[in-house]
Amino acid sequence: MTQRIYIFDTTLRDGEQAPGISLNQREKVEIAEQLARLEVDIIEAGFPVSSPSEFEAVKAIAKNVKGPVICALARTERNDIDWAWEAIMFAERPLIHTFVSTSESHMKHQLKKTPKQVLEMARDAVAYSRKYVENVEFSAMDATRSDAKFLYQVYTEAIKAGATIINVPDTVGYAVPDEFAALVKGIIDNVPGVEDVVVSVHCHNDLGLAVANSLAAINVGASQIECAINGLGERAGNCSLEEVVMVINTRKDAMDMTTGVNTREIYQASRLVSMLTGYSVQPNKAVVGDNAFAHESGIHQDGVLKQRQTYEIMSPEDVGLVESEIYLGKHSGRHALKTKLEEMGFYLDDKGLERAFIRFKELAGKKKEISVKDIEAIALDEIRTLEELFLLDYMQSSSGSGAIPIAAVKLSREGKSYEATSTGDGQVDAVCKAILKATKVKAKLKAYQVQAITRGLDAMGDVTIKLDIEGHEVVGRGVSPDIIEASARAYVNAINRAVQKGLLEKKKLARKAKKTASRGKSKAKKKTASKTTTKAKKTASKTATKAKKPSKGGSKARKKP
Ligand code: KIV
Ligand code: ZN
Repeated sequence: MTQRIYIFDTTLRDGEQAPGISLNQREKVEIAEQLARLEVDIIEAGFPVSSPSEFEAVKAIAKNVKGPVICALARTERNDIDWAWEAIMFAERPLIHTFVSTSESHMKHQLKKTPKQVLEMARDAVAYSRKYVENVEFSAMDATRSDAKFLYQVYTEAIKAGATIINVPDTVGYAVPDEFAALVKGIIDNVPGVEDVVVSVHCHNDLGLAVANSLAAINVGASQIECAINGLGERAGNCSLEEVVMVINTRKDAMDMTTGVNTREIYQASRLVSMLTGYSVQPNKAVVGDNAFAHESGIHQDGVLKQRQTYEIMSPEDVGLVESEIYLGKHSGRHALKTKLEEMGFYLDDKGLERAFIRFKELAGKKKEISVKDIEAIALDEIRTLEELFLLDYMQSSSGSGAIPIAAVKLSREGKSYEATSTGDGQVDAVCKAILKATKVKAKLKAYQVQAITRGLDAMGDVTIKLDIEGHEVVGRGVSPDIIEASARAYVNAINRAVQKGLLEKKKLARKAKKTASRGKSKAKKKTASKTTTKAKKTASKTATKAKKPSKGGSKARKKP
């Protein structure tokens, strides 16, 4: 009988842990809605205890996204589990995913716990989670570097305590397929009760083997794969959803398996995640890369023209890659734009729609043909716009041979205006410096990339910028037919991500504490001054703690993350 493989998507949790990615609530819900259209079985929406914004985002997904199981991650601490439950309690089908490390190195150096203690932590976490939900997943972190016999024991206890899914993570992407398959088979053969639970695998891609390892595991009896769109995740990422699903789909002759994924939504999911995370997809990426269905050599083109299957093992339509038709022009009104956006799955609020309409009109004035990709780029840029943060209201720049490049910008935030001008080594440099001056942010440019959204010289520019702000990497993205404006938008977007992550707030608090302390010192005697310092430090840390606490976390008082 054809075996059903469950697809557990972790784009919004493990995927979001990739350096520089920081999605806001709106973006996370948007991605979760696309994952629901993709018909994944489980959406791991996040790690609620990690921050108030993460908590709110998971809660919003649980409340609004229908179809898949909604999962929240929690360490084995009861406080984590409480927060996870508070976040997903409104989901149609909630799932708590709890984990603890089981390898000697992790237990000894990171957790500083004995195997016996770890066993108890696993047991307690699963049993405690089961008080809230019927479905609990337990992961033995770093399973592939753990002692197999100890793993059997941990999974046995987890199942006894009520786990309904046991997950085998290759946390550091160290395993090779045969070895990983043997580990999973060993678990299936040696853990009592395993026949009543789902065996899941979670493979990282450090050696480029995440998909191969996941497939090896389902061949020996695992029935759930944890994966992420575009293979996003810690370090080299996770098993790529589109690849593993398309292998199962395309090679039915080699493996009698199936997933519930609607593959025609794959391409849209990939683009959405790429545009919102700022992580571009490499052109030669399997399934979703720009060249995945492009045939360059004459022999290949000839073959495909005569009979598609000569060089194509799957069709672009199967993954939702359809030629974008042109449907809107400069005479189209607001209503037409709104209708088309909604057809594409984008629901903008009134302000967002108004801004999108203005940009659409500007584009229509410059470009004869407006494609689906153009409209999508404008919509995504609006979704990326963080309303409560800095908005780019105006920018102007000029340069020329022999002239010094100069730029002026005007931004607004919560009704206040921020203006500045600056010169630079080029127009992009000048506009970015002007933004820094206006916002008073200190940032170092780490990477800059520009791509064309469509073909042709009038194509919109899609700029991705990576900044180092206060020692943290943040990625911003912006689109516009004018590359300087796209750069300015990307730069403001990256700054907004830093604001959203609280990076600038932390710095402000530290500065305030330092100032208060030194003022106290100069005014009073040594003894009094030291008292003031402590007080200032306390005030700063109190405020910081307050900022960290999830704000609307339900009625029960919870420990801070
Ligand atoms: O890689 C890992 O081990 C994880 C666990 C939380 C499952 O992401
Ligand atoms: Zn992981």
